[in-house]
Amino acid sequence: MDLVSAVVPAEPPAHPKDGLTEPVLRIADVVKSYAGRTVVHGVSIEISAGECFGLLGPNGAGKTTTILTACGLLGPDSGEVTLGAERLPVALAAARRQIGYVPQDIALYDDLSGRENLIFFGNLYGLRRAALRKRIDEALDFVGLGDRGKDRVGTYSGGMKRRLNIAAALLHEPAVLILDEPTVGVDPQSRNAILEGLHELRVSGIAILYTSHYMDEIERICNRIGIMDEGRILAEGTREQLMKTLGAEVERVRLSCRGDASRAAAHLTALSCVVGVEVVDGALEVAVRGAAGSLPEVLTALARDGVDVTALSVDTPDLESVFLHLTGKALRDV
Ligand SMILES: Nc1ncnc2c1ncn2[C@@H]1O[C@H](COP(=O)(O)OP(=O)(O)O)[C@@H](O)[C@H]1O
Ligand SMILES: [Mg+2]
Repeated sequence: MDLVSAVVPAEPPAHPKDGLTEPVLRIADVVKSYAGRTVVHGVSIEISAGECFGLLGPNGAGKTTTILTACGLLGPDSGEVTLGAERLPVALAAARRQIGYVPQDIALYDDLSGRENLIFFGNLYGLRRAALRKRIDEALDFVGLGDRGKDRVGTYSGGMKRRLNIAAALLHEPAVLILDEPTVGVDPQSRNAILEGLHELRVSGIAILYTSHYMDEIERICNRIGIMDEGRILAEGTREQLMKTLGAEVERVRLSCRGDASRAAAHLTALSCVVGVEVVDGALEVAVRGAAGSLPEVLTALARDGVDVTALSVDTPDLESVFLHLTGKALRDV
């Protein structure tokens, strides 16, 4: 980069929805403690229009606390949050109009119909009459509740309530949508509808901050992912970038075989590419450095021992492996 382009900033985008890369939401070095215990230790996240950033971490990682500061619902001890050109909490009201927030706990009135709930939330955002009616129709259709708007929310399933909550957060057409574990306790059909809807929103240019402790959801809908544990983002990037942090990691190969697996196991251990061998229900589980390169050697050694391999599978590393690599613990176990 020459000196001129280094010092002259790029032209800022006219509007976040133009699809340019200026961040819409910027969380910078946020620290937050409760009663003297720091639970968020300097978290930074930037999200641009059309992006879905996934905050992946176990319960207690600090995801909700981070999100609450991003929405201006909780003041950070230090660090700052900016939304477009507005800095929180200085321009809180203006900034909030740019955010749609779907809380972890469903916030709806059971005695009112779906439509009446949306009227209530729409009024809070200053939407009235025809404009509000139009937005309610669109939002109900978008979450697949077009035919249930007149029914009392008390009669809805958990998944339907969650979808109505998302509709409420979209009424004022926010530039940023923040969702806190929106699929917990949701039936598979609603879950699918939610994930597909979020993909559509992202394509339409909304910036999304999505938290979950479900790796598969984050992989499915997020273009960038932050892995969070104990108040810190330990790694951040695209799925591919995160997978690269594993390097030439150890992979697990399962081999179903005919023959004396235990005797073969002892010989496999002697190979330099083999890190460990276990016999599980008569099958061999072999931990190797780089399965692609080391499998021929393993298979040759087994053949030499007169062991026939009848089936073979290699565990593909995934974000779960990245979490394990970074924290030393399994995401599903914490
Ligand atoms: N209001 C609160 N008062 C005290 N501690 C809290 C409060 N809210 C959350 N915590 C603690 O802060 C840590 C992070 O919590 P949270 O942000 O809810 O994590 P996550 O959303 O990732 O499950 C946890 O140890 C939790 O017990
Ligand atoms: Mg939470």
